[in-house]
Amino acid sequence: MNLARLVVVLALMFTFVMTVSAIDKKPFGKTSDGREVFLYTLKNQNGMEVVITNFGGDVVSMKAPDRDGKYADIALGFDTVADYEKQGPYFGALIGRYGNRLAGGKFTLDGKTYQVPTNDGPNALHGGKVGFDKRVWDAKESSDASGQHLHLHYLSKDGEEGFPGNLNADVTYTLDNKNELRIDYLATTDKDTVLNLTNHTYFNLKGQGEGDILEHQIMINADRFTPVDAHLIPTGELKPVEGTPFDLRKAVAIGAHINDDNEQLKLGRGYDHNWVLNTGGKMATAAKVVEPTTGRVLEVLTDQPGIQFYTGNFLDGTAKGKGKVYNYRNGFCLETQHFPDSPNHPNFPTTELKPGQKFKSTTIYRFSTDKKK
Ligand code: GLA
Repeated sequence: MNLARLVVVLALMFTFVMTVSAIDKKPFGKTSDGREVFLYTLKNQNGMEVVITNFGGDVVSMKAPDRDGKYADIALGFDTVADYEKQGPYFGALIGRYGNRLAGGKFTLDGKTYQVPTNDGPNALHGGKVGFDKRVWDAKESSDASGQHLHLHYLSKDGEEGFPGNLNADVTYTLDNKNELRIDYLATTDKDTVLNLTNHTYFNLKGQGEGDILEHQIMINADRFTPVDAHLIPTGELKPVEGTPFDLRKAVAIGAHINDDNEQLKLGRGYDHNWVLNTGGKMATAAKVVEPTTGRVLEVLTDQPGIQFYTGNFLDGTAKGKGKVYNYRNGFCLETQHFPDSPNHPNFPTTELKPGQKFKSTTIYRFSTDKKK
């Protein structure tokens, strides 16, 4: 091949790579303090599409195929950045610095007691009044053979929302050609701190806004869960699921026992609990959900020790988005995490991070379909 030809071939290859793999970026409007935020559309070769905004790192929509190859948006979400800024269901959001609750907004670290702002009755929930879900993240797109990536970075300054240490959080979303959405978390600090990072996507595998999720079949790979008190704070017990509505080791309809006469279900208004995964911190299947009418299957893999299974019990029709009204139990979340309120429970896996350490974690949402039974 002569040089001129080589140049043409390389130019064509370059153009091809740029056209097939460029991530679409478009404006999503401005935050109330005037900062411009964007929508990034990650696509794969099969036609899956995931739209993410760098406001809160929120997954705004997720299009996945059913068993006939028909795509639908299966993630609940809003139309405007103002809705994400004002409303509180945490649709699709990145959660930090501390996911789920801290009792009384208090924790003790190195002998010092910290009081962080409370925003859920007496407790701090999902990072406090202005958690990571309400922050503008720096964003950078890239594509390679493994898929399309959105790299997000946020510096949570020392003292922000009462937490010690400058925490650098890096979250990378990757959509690959195996229909997996992968989330890689990385964090470092310059002072001892606590952290619990997760993603709060609400799924409805029938399609967002298509009614409740009670017919979905769920499996959670856990022999134990962490029961809660009246304020949804873990009592500290790791309770066997055996013989309770929390035994989801074999697939069962979400609605099969959700209304059982069970104290824990009453406290949670349904499922809103942390399961102690059997996977021992190794990357493996934590949960699997099958939607029988469409055949859509979601498998959640993680290296985290716990998963919060929340059945949208606080949704009440107030939240509306993407042409739909989100009513009671119209979505479910599978939030991979460390256990809620860990800093106040020495028997739970530690959530402390020290200078020089790297917090690294991965969660994968894997989509597939099931044949009609
Ligand atoms: C988590 C909590 C729930 C609720 C939702 C957000 O899943 O465990 O109790 O606060 O977030 O609405």
